[in-house]
Amino acid sequence: MSSVLILFAHPALEKSRTNRLLLEACRSVEGVTVNDLYEEYPDFDIDVDREQQLLLDHDYILLHHPFYWYSSPAIVKQWEDLVLEHGWAYGREGKALVGKKILNVLTTGGRHEAYEEGGYNRFTMQQFLAPFDQTAYLCKMIYLPPFVVHGTHRLSEPEMRRYASQYKSLLTMLTTDQIDLEDAKTRRYLNELLVD
Ligand SMILES: Cc1cc2nc3c(=O)[nH]c(=O)nc-3n(C[C@H](O)[C@H](O)[C@H](O)COP(=O)(O)O)c2cc1C
Repeated sequence: MSSVLILFAHPALEKSRTNRLLLEACRSVEGVTVNDLYEEYPDFDIDVDREQQLLLDHDYILLHHPFYWYSSPAIVKQWEDLVLEHGWAYGREGKALVGKKILNVLTTGGRHEAYEEGGYNRFTMQQFLAPFDQTAYLCKMIYLPPFVVHGTHRLSEPEMRRYASQYKSLLTMLTTDQIDLEDAKTRRYLNELLVD
């Protein structure tokens, strides 16, 4: 069994349609810890020791958030700036996170085609996510492709529930070690492993 830590960040969960459903789906999976950053730290006053201990205690780290301005909501950046300390997460002595797996779980208003090569947003998700990829690399973590829900504004309730169920399946696969990491790394999105 592997353990999964979800670092969840949504600044207005009461208005959320998609992430609320995704979050509900993952709460029941054994081996998954949900750490709701905006709920824990409404003043952005992050408890670095607590966060570092949570990272040490888990095998997979999922950064789960809506895509805001082609990146994450602000608290994720604050979390990175404070928690990923030199000498702990990176640098000559910084080995705490070596070998842990990390990925983004994202919802975007923009549709899939908007994030294709030559699409409306001009860059692919892989290109937008380069800072996360490189941060993982610096910390000697294994960066996996994202799980993405595109086009949230146009999704019907059943479509959203289907994504929530896929997310739950992904979490179950991660906790029960059913993911072939080498295969997963070659995918554009981890959604490809879950086609039903
Ligand atoms: C401040 C803000 C910035 C956003 N930036 C983007 C963006 O860069 N790209 C995009 O596709 N959608 C963007 N969106 C749309 C959100 O990604 C979308 O509303 C969200 O994923 C829906 O999830 P929810 O129902 O859980 O809130 C933005 C929304 C807000 C409020």
